[in-house]
Amino acid sequence: MQKKEMETIEEEIKECRRCELWKTRTNPVAGEGSLTAEVMFVGEAPGYYEDLKGRPFVGKAGKVLDELLDSVGLERSEVYIANVLKCRPPGNRNPTLGEIKACTPYLDAQMEIIAPAVIATLGNFSLVYIFDKFGLNADKISKIHGKVFTVRTIAGIKKVVPLYHPAVATYNPGMKEVLVDDFKVLARCFS
Ligand code: URA
Repeated sequence: MQKKEMETIEEEIKECRRCELWKTRTNPVAGEGSLTAEVMFVGEAPGYYEDLKGRPFVGKAGKVLDELLDSVGLERSEVYIANVLKCRPPGNRNPTLGEIKACTPYLDAQMEIIAPAVIATLGNFSLVYIFDKFGLNADKISKIHGKVFTVRTIAGIKKVVPLYHPAVATYNPGMKEVLVDDFKVLARCFS
């Protein structure tokens, strides 16, 4: 059932023309992982390697994410990893408001299918989108990273944990420690 629903969304994403990014993408990146994941990671948008491979977080930031998952004993196959945008913005520019508006119904549908108990935002665009969606007050990431926010939804109580984008550790190695500590907080949010 969940599998079928997710496949339908993936098919829609392949054919998507809701914004202009289909014109410049190589592959859309729907997301991947367990459809019964307790934790769902939401990044920003595919980058160069993600666009080439059609998979989320397979470049430099992905290597950091893999290390962070490993640091708390999580496998990629037991979490779900998606992005706010499914297609790469040219040159990795920031997503536009129009693109976010056009694309996020896919993310919303994925969250409904997976119904994760915990949503971990990676980076600012994800933070803003998810906090707004759940009626939370999105303060600066420097203030709220690694904190646990609890929200009541029609699908039950969820936790939202804002995290820095793993890419920060590729240009500021000191941030890796911050991310490692925040992942420990995240790991305590579920069984
Ligand atoms: N950065 C993101 O936000 N998402 C990816 O999939 C890769 C890099």
